[in-house]
Amino acid sequence: MTFQWPDGFLPVPKEPWAEAQLEELARKYDTVEEHGWYDNLNPSVDDILASQGKGALLLDYSGGTGILTRRLLARPEAEGMGVLIVDSSPKFLRLALERSKHDPRVGYRLIRFLKDERRLQRLEEVVDKALWDRGLDAISSTNAIHLYYGLDDTVAGWFNILKPGGIAYIQSGNIRNPDAEEGTWIIDETVEHIHRAAMDIVATNPEFEDYRTCLSDAEYMESHDKLRAKYFLPVRDVGHYRDAFERAGFNIRSCVARTFEARVTDWYAFLSVYHEGVLGWIGGAQKITGEAASEDHVIQRQRLMRMAMDKIFNGEATFNAAWTYFQCVK
Ligand SMILES: C[S@@+](CC[C@H](N)C(=O)[O-])C[C@H]1O[C@@H](n2cnc3c(N)ncnc32)[C@H](O)[C@@H]1O
Repeated sequence: MTFQWPDGFLPVPKEPWAEAQLEELARKYDTVEEHGWYDNLNPSVDDILASQGKGALLLDYSGGTGILTRRLLARPEAEGMGVLIVDSSPKFLRLALERSKHDPRVGYRLIRFLKDERRLQRLEEVVDKALWDRGLDAISSTNAIHLYYGLDDTVAGWFNILKPGGIAYIQSGNIRNPDAEEGTWIIDETVEHIHRAAMDIVATNPEFEDYRTCLSDAEYMESHDKLRAKYFLPVRDVGHYRDAFERAGFNIRSCVARTFEARVTDWYAFLSVYHEGVLGWIGGAQKITGEAASEDHVIQRQRLMRMAMDKIFNGEATFNAAWTYFQCVK
């Protein structure tokens, strides 16, 4: 039997985002589904299915293009489960809908940015009352918690919508964790190393000498440093998240570090989309100069990025990265 939504609940809301064109950026993100490092979702699927089953409703918070939801619902044990994907990106949510539109177990809700108040909507402003009255059995947040500006408000929303005994399954590769295996990378921190290796290459390799003068322009480089820190946020300690979960009232049932192998070619394919954030100083980032970089500069950014990656990963085809998994109980 398939999952039963509460009476009157519309899994797909009649909203403009749900009928919009599919966007290239979302499609590009969704290709990570085939990347080895995206195996980081598999323990989350296993953890959820170990304690949730028929009739359970999971809120896939920051569900993005729906990769976790699809992996979960492809498992036979998830047959009678429902999933509500909530995300702040209409483009990602649109693709999630496209990919699962024939699955009645999946619902979707968009978190809007309230311009006047300069904040994202809270969960209670996004999820229908019928679901609050029912209560959620579980919440997942994968590859996203390091991006939240209002961490306390977000975690409080999770706590409030869960039934007593409900579980939040949270994981991210961008958490500093002393339990991480030795020699593993924090995946977003590779970006800073790529930037530094790229500066070395530009300083020494004649192929890039046209870009050398900008290295000594402190103001220019600093503005690009700031931009990079907006794309790839500074990494926080595991204790930062632990404290936030406890402040909201959660009991932390487990906190585990796991290692995944990433292919350098896959990580390059992912990062090259964000060339402006990684190496925007090559040609100048539009957000800083006000002008889009030429196609040639973009090609040079991507070439340099690939060379810098060979340098930091010593020419190896793969590198190991650590992910941290929390299970928190209401
Ligand atoms: C790296 S993607 C991960 C998507 C998905 N969970 C997965 O593992 O494939 C991060 C997602 O977090 C969403 N996001 C970023 N900030 C958010 C916030 N403050 N609240 C809710 N979602 C947010 C983004 O729109 C994006 O879909």
